[in-house]
Parts: sequence; structure tokens; C-alpha cells
Amino acid sequence: MKPVPIPLTTARPFIPAQRPPVGVTAAELRQAARQVLLRNWTGASTVPSRSLYPHQWSWDSAFVAIGLRHLSAPRAQRELETLMSAQWGDGRVPHIVFNPSVPLGAYFPSPDFWRSSTAGAGAGAPGHVETSGIVQPPVHALAAWLVHRADPATSRRRGFLRRLYPRLVAWHRYLTVHRDLGGHGLVSAVHPWEPGMDNSPAWDAPLSRIEPADPCSFRRCDLDHGSASDRPTDLDYGRYVRLAADYRDHGYRDGDAPHPFAVEDPGVNALLIASEHALAQIAVEVGAQGPGDDPGGHRGRAARLTDALVDRLWDEESGMFLCRDVRAGHRGEPIRERSAAGLVPLVVPGLPHGIVRTLLRTVGGEHFGLGDTVRLVPSYDLKGHAFDSCRYWRGPAWFNVNWLVERGLRQYGHTTRADSLRAAVLASAAASGFAEYVDPHTGAGRGAREFSWTAALALDLLSRSADRSADRAAVRTGMRVGALVRSGTAG
Ligand code: SER
Repeated sequence: MKPVPIPLTTARPFIPAQRPPVGVTAAELRQAARQVLLRNWTGASTVPSRSLYPHQWSWDSAFVAIGLRHLSAPRAQRELETLMSAQWGDGRVPHIVFNPSVPLGAYFPSPDFWRSSTAGAGAGAPGHVETSGIVQPPVHALAAWLVHRADPATSRRRGFLRRLYPRLVAWHRYLTVHRDLGGHGLVSAVHPWEPGMDNSPAWDAPLSRIEPADPCSFRRCDLDHGSASDRPTDLDYGRYVRLAADYRDHGYRDGDAPHPFAVEDPGVNALLIASEHALAQIAVEVGAQGPGDDPGGHRGRAARLTDALVDRLWDEESGMFLCRDVRAGHRGEPIRERSAAGLVPLVVPGLPHGIVRTLLRTVGGEHFGLGDTVRLVPSYDLKGHAFDSCRYWRGPAWFNVNWLVERGLRQYGHTTRADSLRAAVLASAAASGFAEYVDPHTGAGRGAREFSWTAALALDLLSRSADRSADRAAVRTGMRVGALVRSGTAG
């Protein structure tokens, strides 16, 4: 299958980001990551993958901006501005912003499926661009703050945060007001794609209640680019389509849509909290003065969300946070599947000490095996009944999840473990050619290659510290890349 043509406004020639050679240095890895990001830049934003995902994706763009800031602060700002300019009147930030110059058949569900500008008009969908109608995790305020900090002078000169702040506030308000479907102060996802972990075994039970769409009513494009054994099944796809079509047919109005799938996900809510803390810092920077939208207001909201996260989703027996099926039973029920989403709250500042201690034990224990049986955190329980080391979000290790866990480990002072995880992420990104995800046992790359957030987050980890110790760590990483490649375990 030929890659979908993406209009490139950059004059740079395409240089393929080949797998870095054995013993790759930090500088070589940085250069290879840079090439991926240049190649995947469309002029206003970055595609996650030129083949599989040829438009702009919401949480991808946030992670991409976090890496891009090390190459060009204005470009990283532009990435987020492009996304936020497609925000709906009700505050939602759509999970896809479609590029009109990409052929309709390149991706499904395409703009003529979502019909945002007509079906979503009542919910305030913009008229100048077509988007999807669902959302993805709110990493954007965190990304905006990190982008600002990379070059505050340029950010201030461009009015970056001043322009973005009200949009970010409206985005969080959409989630906390329109999506508190459980009524206990947490955000619910209404489609398995919303938490970003599309095919997680945590969705199997709530998804089993959904009548799939007629398989003849749509054609999947993802199988043109990826192996069927790595991707969701046709039955699951039929259910994804049904949920999205029903939401669309209710005008994407949360008050009217029945939302038969409603799940409180610890990853989504943890990222909202981390972003709410970032909004507090942004509010200081822009001098926001409320009411409610001031530094204290954001910190108060973050604290209330943290209490709700712990009350509703912490599970002492599993030693981690669990998703909650809001539609099960009378008051909702925990979903007893260990997914990596339950570890993401490590990015939340100020968690109770006991919870942090238990989470750290769980990350390294038999179910996630970090530093023991595996070097990267898998997306799902290594011992789980549905574990599959290759299939989308049912076991493979993803780079954004590992970046978040690394950040969490560092935040809570576990520097040595954070350093090892950073080294493993860099080695794996290099050895797999910036794969979309990897087999957690073998390190073999799976899914798309030259995946944007893999390159961006590798760049971020390489750039986090310009001091010598970071360079020494990167050099050690290069040695490990060499070992992986020589022993034939890298994909
Ligand atoms: N990742 C999902 C897809 O397959 C939803 O964005 O398109």
C-alpha cells in the first residue's frame, strides 16, 4: 500500500529515519528522531503516522509538541494552536482534525462519517474544518506548559499561553461539566477510543453490551496498513462504529445521547489532574484572575479530582487504579482488569504516600514486571487472561505510557528506576525504528514505524537534561541498543 500523500510545506527533502546503527549515540538518535518529526510535519501539525493515521490526532499532538519544543518552539506552539483552533463551541477538543487534502478513503471513519460541521452544529462544531466528535485524554495543558517553558520569550512574544489559556479552560470545563456521567466528580469516556487505549481488555465487558454495526456498512482502512493479528477484531470495530454513529445521530449532545458505554478511566482523569496543575501555572503566567479560573481555582479543582480519583478508582486488592463501568449495576462497578491506565496516576502530584508505595510495587511486580521480566511497562497485565504481546493495547508496550510512568517515578523521587526506564525507552525507540509499540518480552517493534510520538518522546527524554550525566546515560543506552540488535531480539 502506498503511503497517503501529505502536503509538506517544509522545503526539506525527505530523509528516511532508518534504524539507527548498532551502538547508536545520543546525537544519532536525536537526529533520527528529528527526521521523523520533520517528515511527519504537514505545515500546521504532525501526523501520528503517514500511513495509518494521516490526519491530526488530539493526544498525539500533545505528546508531539512535547518533543517538538526541543527542535522549534514556534512549531511546537503551532501544533497545539492548530488542534485548539478546531475546538467546538461546547469546549470539546475533537480526537481527530481532518486534513482536507487527504483523500477520504485514506482513513476510516472519515469526515463524511462524522459529519461534524452539520451533525455537530448544535454542539458548536466549527464550520471551517471537519473533525471527529469524540475526544482523547486531556494532556494539552501539560503540553502547553512544557512548550512554553522551553522558550518563554518566544511564547510571550507570540502570546501563546494568553491565547491558549481560555481554550484550555473551556476544554477542561467541557469534561468536568458534560462528562461527569457517573455523578461523582470524574470524567467518563463514552467510546473506547476516548481513553486512547482503544482495544484494552478493560473495554471487553462494557463493549459486549453494544450491538455491532452491520459489517457491510463500512470498510476498515487500518488493515491496509497493519497486520490483522495486531489490530482490533472486526466485531470490536463494528461496536466502535455503532457507538460513534449513535453519538453523531444525537447531534453529539451529551445531554441527549444515551451513552451506553460510559467508563471512568484512571488515565484520562489522571491526565486531567496533571493538566489542571499545569493550568494553575499557566494562570500565574498569564495573570488570570478568576472567578475560579485563577491559580487557586485550578489547584482546588485538581485536589477535588484527586480525591474523587482515589475514592472511586483506587483498588487496594489489585494494588492499582481500576476503570469503573458507570453503566454496570445500580451505581457502577469496577472493571477487574489490570490495564496500564491504572498506573498513569503516578503523574498526579500529591497522591497519598501509601498509594504511591503500592503503585511502585505493582509496576515492578508480576503483573507489569518492570525491571524484572520486562524493560518497558506493558499496556496490560502480563498474567491477564487476555494478554497478547502483539495486539493493540492488549499487552504491547507503548512509548507515551512509558514516558508518563518515567515522569511519575521521577516526580516521586525514584530517580534510579526512572533512569533505567528512560534508557529502556531510548533503546527500544532506536532499535525499533520509532515503532508505534513493541512486544514487551522481545522488544520487537509492532504497528507503524516512524511513529511521531515515539520520536518526540525519545527526543524529550534525550533533551530533558543537557548535562553530562544525561549524555553518559544516552551513551550507555547506545551500548544497550547494540546488545539488543546483536542478540536479534529487536524488531
Ligand atoms: N486509534 C483509533 C483508530 O484506529 C482511533 O483514533 O483510528
